[in-house]
Amino acid sequence: MGRAFLFAAFLVAVAFSSLPLVGDDIASEEKLLDLYERWQSHHGVSRSVDEKRIRFDVFKENANYVFASNKKGKPYKLSLNKFGDMAREEFKRTYAGTRIRRRSTLRGSASLKGYFLYKNVTDVTPTVDWRQKGAVTAIKDQGKCGSCWAFSTVVSVEGINQIRTNELISLSEQQLVDCDTNTNKGCDGGMMDDAFDFIERNGGITTEENYPYVARQEQCKVKRERSPAVVIDGYEDVPVNDEDALLRAVANQPVSVAIEAIGQDFQFYSEGVFTGSCGTELDHGVAIVGYGTSKDGMKYWIVKNSWGPEWGEEGYVRMQRGISASEGLCGIAMEASYPLKTSPNPVQKKLHL
Ligand SMILES: *[C@@H]1O[C@H](CO)[C@@H](O)[C@H](O)[C@H]1NC(C)=O
Repeated sequence: MGRAFLFAAFLVAVAFSSLPLVGDDIASEEKLLDLYERWQSHHGVSRSVDEKRIRFDVFKENANYVFASNKKGKPYKLSLNKFGDMAREEFKRTYAGTRIRRRSTLRGSASLKGYFLYKNVTDVTPTVDWRQKGAVTAIKDQGKCGSCWAFSTVVSVEGINQIRTNELISLSEQQLVDCDTNTNKGCDGGMMDDAFDFIERNGGITTEENYPYVARQEQCKVKRERSPAVVIDGYEDVPVNDEDALLRAVANQPVSVAIEAIGQDFQFYSEGVFTGSCGTELDHGVAIVGYGTSKDGMKYWIVKNSWGPEWGEEGYVRMQRGISASEGLCGIAMEASYPLKTSPNPVQKKLHL
């Protein structure tokens, strides 16, 4: 009974998240058009006649790509997800391709002083999943706004806060988008390190509930900002290009990382261990919330994305870990950092009085 129920729930989840495809869906123009119609109703999108004409060409290309890729026996699968009729350029403008500005080597970040909190950690468990330990909030969606840097920052702040205080509080990306404007650029990109800096100097970050996400940059709402829920005490950079150091950090807390996410494989990633072709032009901020090894022995990072729960494995991607390049897959070990927290949070004033 219990088993059947779980199985049914699993089927529903799969049907909800990805459009079922069959072998001859791409066999002809007519079948493709039919597939496009099904895709639209599955994802609840409606396109005007003109838009449909243009987007159908893009959809055909994407469908052919997804079918071809899934035949290659790769350890991961692609699907025609909600980005199915989105051209690469458009995808790049709105979801990836967010300018993750390079760290300035001139700034006095902690790592330049050679300090790494987890330097001497020798014992790490073979698997860690901070979701199971209650340190990760539900998957969020950045929408058509290049604010991935804010989402990446918030994941690791929510994580360390839960680890220190035992309380999981969903925090405000919108506050960072609107108010952290000194070096970060709202929907046009930013840097996680600068956002940690901002949160520290600003006396904390408020809750998602108090300052909800609207997917565009607006004037900083100072009154809402003045109710910080969580404070941090700065941040540290994980030693660059060192997946081993990264492992020691993730064993102790969720870590913000930058990756190259512009590739089609990443755009349409559906499930499995991602080993896809990608470079190290860092263009997307995400966060590592665990690691493990698959049944067939492939090591992976558990990465939380901000493209909604329909993308990937319910919003997550497992990315191959421990590859020969020291930068890690898609540059995941190049710009990793995490917040420090020793100070207690401010006593919460009652909101909405
Ligand atoms: C690591 O160990 C060395 C030697 O005991 C010590 O000097 C250093 O402070 C430790 N580093 C950290 C980050 O704990």
